[in-house]
Order: sequence, then C-alpha cells, then structure tokens
Amino acid sequence: MSKIAVIGGTGMNSWPGLEVLARIDADTAYGKPSAPLLRGRVYGVEAIFLARHGEGHKLPPHAINYRANLQALAEAGVQRVIAIAAVGAIAPWFAPGEVAVPDDLIDHTWGREHSYSDGRPGSVLAHVEFTHPYSPALREALLAAAAAGGVQAAAQGVMAVTQGPRLETPAEIRALQREGSDMVGMTGMPEAALARELGLDYACLAVSVNWAAGLSPAGAGIHDEIHASIEVGMAKVRAILERALPGLA
Ligand code: HPA
Repeated sequence: MSKIAVIGGTGMNSWPGLEVLARIDADTAYGKPSAPLLRGRVYGVEAIFLARHGEGHKLPPHAINYRANLQALAEAGVQRVIAIAAVGAIAPWFAPGEVAVPDDLIDHTWGREHSYSDGRPGSVLAHVEFTHPYSPALREALLAAAAAGGVQAAAQGVMAVTQGPRLETPAEIRALQREGSDMVGMTGMPEAALARELGLDYACLAVSVNWAAGLSPAGAGIHDEIHASIEVGMAKVRAILERALPGLA
C-alpha cells in the first residue's frame, strides 16, 4: 500500500525517477481515472503517481474525471495527495519559475462533476468544511521540506480556478486580482474538494509558469513564458518532493 500519491499535470505528466512496480488499471463507480495509477519507488519510499491529463497529456481540464481520479487513489489506500499545478501568476511576488504552497482558493469552474454528494442512491448529503481547503499539516510538511532543501517556496497564496481550456482575458485577470487571487489555474477544483469529501489530506505545489493575461512586464507571449520557466519550477518541485516524501509515505 502506498499512502502518498502525487497528481502531476502540465510540466509533470510523468515522474522521472519513479521506478514503476505496478500499473493499476483502476475502474471506480465513477468511471476510470485519467490514466493507470503508477505504483512505484522513489526517494527510497513507495508512492503512487497519477497523470491528471492522462498518458500523452490529452485531457483538457474540464474533461478530467476528477471523481474517478480521487476515488481510485482512495481505493488504492492513499491517504495523502500532493497536487502539482502549473499556474499563471497574478501577484507580483510570484514570478514565473517560482513555487508556492497555496492556502486558499476561489472556484470559478462550472459544469464539472464536482461532488460525491450527488443525490444518487447510496450517496450521502455532506457539507464538508472547507475553511482550510488545503491540509494545514501537509502544507507544513511541504514548506519544511522546501526549507530543508534550500528551495524557496511562498508559504501561502490564493488560487483562482478557471474553466479553461482557453486562457483568461486581461479584464478577467483584473477581476481575479480584485477578488484577492494570487495565481490562476484550471485544475485545482473540484480536485481539492473531492479529496476533502473522501477524507484525504490534500495540498498543492503551485508552479508559476507565466504572468497571467495582461500582466507580463515584458509583454511576452504566455506560451513563450511557459516554455522558458516550466522546467525551472518543476526542478524545484522535484527537490521539494525528494525531501518531503520520506516523511509522508
Ligand atoms: N491561466 C490559467 N491557467 C494557467 C495559466 C494561466 O495563465 N498558466 C498555467 N495554467
């Protein structure tokens, strides 16, 4: 049994270094997850990896079966989930290539199967508490690992989650800025809420890969910025995971 799972997204669609011991072709009451769960060894411990966008990175954010993904992990015995997310930066302190451990979120997604509490026979009506949408204990562990590894990681941040797959307009980004968002991604919800409904500890390592629309000081294209920064940020993520996993598995 692996207690810890990593869900990887853009920039981490596979986990270099993971020695795969088993491919678990899960099938849940909510359907199949994005990809087989890869159970393996990394940094001296057992862990599970799930490619959020599927093998070959084909699933857009709104077409991901988040319920099947989290359910499959829970059924595999996972108790803790570290979500890796490439995001656009809204806050001035979050330049491309930087990493943050967000502590709050605002959900702008729609039309996604976003709850196990869906009124179907057998489902339970539950209003899960979401005052701390990311597990404080798991966030602390990630931040301690970053500090121990000498990796700079912002200790908080508000993540806005948009529907995608298109990027935002500058006016939309200004609106997100006014509501208090520091970063914007497309996959953070309903993933975080479903993990909470299942009682899993869930935290996110957010990698800034571009300035959000209209905010680039250099006026650079978003895709050029992503290209230039994503590997810098993902190297930091791997360094944090290397320190964190032995204490979490
Ligand atoms: N907006 C939304 N999602 C993103 C972005 C962005 O600018 N960059 C990476 N994921």
